[in-house]
Amino acid sequence: MSNVGWRIKVGHDKYRVIFAKLFRSKEKDAAMREELFLTYVRDLYGHHDGEEREVFPAMIKVPEFRETCYELEMEHRAMKMLAVELSELGYDHKTWVYRLAPLYAIHNIHWDKEEKFLIPFSPEHFTNDQIEALGEKFDAVVARYNAMSLQDFKAEHLKPQQK
Ligand SMILES: [Fe+2]
Ligand SMILES: [Fe+2]
Repeated sequence: MSNVGWRIKVGHDKYRVIFAKLFRSKEKDAAMREELFLTYVRDLYGHHDGEEREVFPAMIKVPEFRETCYELEMEHRAMKMLAVELSELGYDHKTWVYRLAPLYAIHNIHWDKEEKFLIPFSPEHFTNDQIEALGEKFDAVVARYNAMSLQDFKAEHLKPQQK
């Protein structure tokens, strides 16, 4: 099924599981943290890009969704800033796991909004065919990110922040 709302929910549920593992990780688990975190961030960047390229432009045309879309885009931006900070801190840093908390807090607010608006994906505004086609396009963007190696992804998307 390519229903765009359900494709997005599958991504969110995957991240929920990864966060549960990361929150239990310790400083000695730095290598596992790094691999799991980068795997999550690569998928997340694809997920955000898929939403911003394919889903939000369709939603923004519907006046009642417009404000929510702008909020969702700004939340993506905030999550990316926190993800970059976590990738630069050092995976064995004693505060690493605590710095996950604000990222997770934004995720929770964001997931609630998206799952409220995107899972039903408005049958009153879109046909089933449009909802399925958006799901396929969204999946294709996520797949492009996941086809990159973690090292290539890191070099291209997690460049050190300019101070
Ligand atoms: Fe999402
Ligand atoms: Fe999102």
